[in-house]
Amino acid sequence: MNIRLGLARRGDAHAIADMSRTLVEHGLPWTWNERRILRCISNPDCVVLMARDGRRLAGFAIAEFFDDRTHLNLLAVRPAYQRMGVGRTLMAWLESSARTAGTFLMHLEVRASNQPARDFYRRLGFSEGGTRRGYYAGREDAVRLVRDLKVTSASPAA
Ligand SMILES: CC(C)(COP(=O)(O)OP(=O)(O)OC[C@H]1O[C@@H](n2cnc3c(N)ncnc32)[C@H](O)[C@@H]1OP(=O)(O)O)[C@@H](O)C(=O)NCCC(=O)NCCS
Repeated sequence: MNIRLGLARRGDAHAIADMSRTLVEHGLPWTWNERRILRCISNPDCVVLMARDGRRLAGFAIAEFFDDRTHLNLLAVRPAYQRMGVGRTLMAWLESSARTAGTFLMHLEVRASNQPARDFYRRLGFSEGGTRRGYYAGREDAVRLVRDLKVTSASPAA
């Protein structure tokens, strides 16, 4: 495995949207479709970051940078690449960019039922900060996670 990070190009939007549908939005209406990914790719405040193993898409992250915070919209790693540090590497890139931009608050929402992802974010130093009822199409609650990049540090890799 030789994972390299790089910004997504327009031709990557289809594969990213497909991964979002199967790995993140399964059982919910598909909102992160190709059109929405393309909008992010062309939005200067948004980063669509890919982790590639050769030509293969192993994972991706989408984040939006605001003046006072960074919001993580999506993160997914293909099952064949999970538990190999790909998610942690994508997050480290985003966190470093946020710090460089002088923005130290990072937050996101995750499906309440997604315990593996909640464990992942906690391991990276995020704290759970409340529930948003029916956030996902009225069908599922979201848990909000927050990390202050100034005061918290992620646990080192095992
Ligand atoms: C959540 C997700 C992004 C994690 O990516 P990953 O590349 O597998 O994570 P990493 O290998 O970088 O894991 C870093 C640490 O997080 C924790 N972690 C990761 N996956 C975990 C899991 N399934 N269960 C418990 N802890 C987990 C572990 O502490 C891990 O370190 P370790 O493997 O040394 O024990 C990935 O499982 C995924 O894509 N899931 C489906 C989509 C999703 O849920 N996205 C998040 C919501 S948008």
